[in-house]
Amino acid sequence: MDPNRLKGKNILITGAAQGMGATNAEHFAEQGANVCLGDINVDGAKDVAERINARGNGKAIAVKLDVTSREDNAAAVQATVDAFGMINVGLFNAGVNKPKYFMDIDESNWDMIMNVNTKAMWLGMQEVARQMIKQGPQEQVYKLINVGSVASRTPLYDVTVYCASKYACLALTHCGAKTLWEYNITVNGYAPGIVRTELWEQLDKDLVEIGMFEQEGQSMEHVARTLTTMKKLSYPDDVKGTAAFLASPDSDYMTGQMIQIDGGWVIQ
Ligand SMILES: NC(=O)c1ccc[n+]([C@@H]2O[C@H](COP(=O)([O-])OP(=O)(O)OC[C@H]3O[C@@H](n4cnc5c(N)ncnc54)[C@H](O)[C@@H]3O)[C@@H](O)[C@H]2O)c1
Repeated sequence: MDPNRLKGKNILITGAAQGMGATNAEHFAEQGANVCLGDINVDGAKDVAERINARGNGKAIAVKLDVTSREDNAAAVQATVDAFGMINVGLFNAGVNKPKYFMDIDESNWDMIMNVNTKAMWLGMQEVARQMIKQGPQEQVYKLINVGSVASRTPLYDVTVYCASKYACLALTHCGAKTLWEYNITVNGYAPGIVRTELWEQLDKDLVEIGMFEQEGQSMEHVARTLTTMKKLSYPDDVKGTAAFLASPDSDYMTGQMIQIDGGWVIQ
């Protein structure tokens, strides 16, 4: 691994206390990036930041960030700038899920998922882009990276609201790319399939609760086996290389793309 590949990149990552956000933060810092870890679970984000700082190379700070709040997003951007001088990349990774049979979806389920996965992505993109525009044109291309899902491109049973929220992430990626290049900002994303994280551990329990599976521990293997071409699930380490590519100069001539990292689940 090139310890300087992301040197000079200051990256704000949302939802970085655990799962893919934490793995990406560590991986970015190993390649020289400075990272601001924003999470509603600030203690978890602080633990990850401590690990990064103990290791050397890129530096890390942690901030309390509820991604659904414009004020919190603006404050996280400011904290990144205060710590590192400017912001070069925003990775909008925070996300939630809570499955429900279509006819049982209620307003609170809709609002909870749409607020975190979609509205917050828009807010984060806007606040980070606002700062990038203020910084003005730089030699480096500024980058916004959105985390979608297989659920951005294919309908899935009992996660209708999650699908709606993630299809919308694709739209934010497309529209943001068209609009923001004027300011030297690209907008890309990646779309994982089935990744063993706490999100899926919880989903596994919730799917039993709504009667989709009989026992806990069945859903991940079943979904991986029946829906992915590779017939296996993935781990955060399977995603980090693509995230680093999208943060690096190697992806400078790319915008409006969402890369599937899903073991061949969605092939278009
Ligand atoms: N795990 C999968 O199989 C999978 C598949 C496709 C896409 N994704 C997407 O990848 C992203 C990361 O998922 P993960 O599996 O690592 O999840 P995770 O549950 O392990 O981590 C999500 C993080 O987001 C944080 N978060 C939740 N609500 C927040 C809020 N309001 N403000 C700030 N932080 C908040 C949590 O505290 C947590 O640290 C999500 O957008 C998810 O939808 C996951």
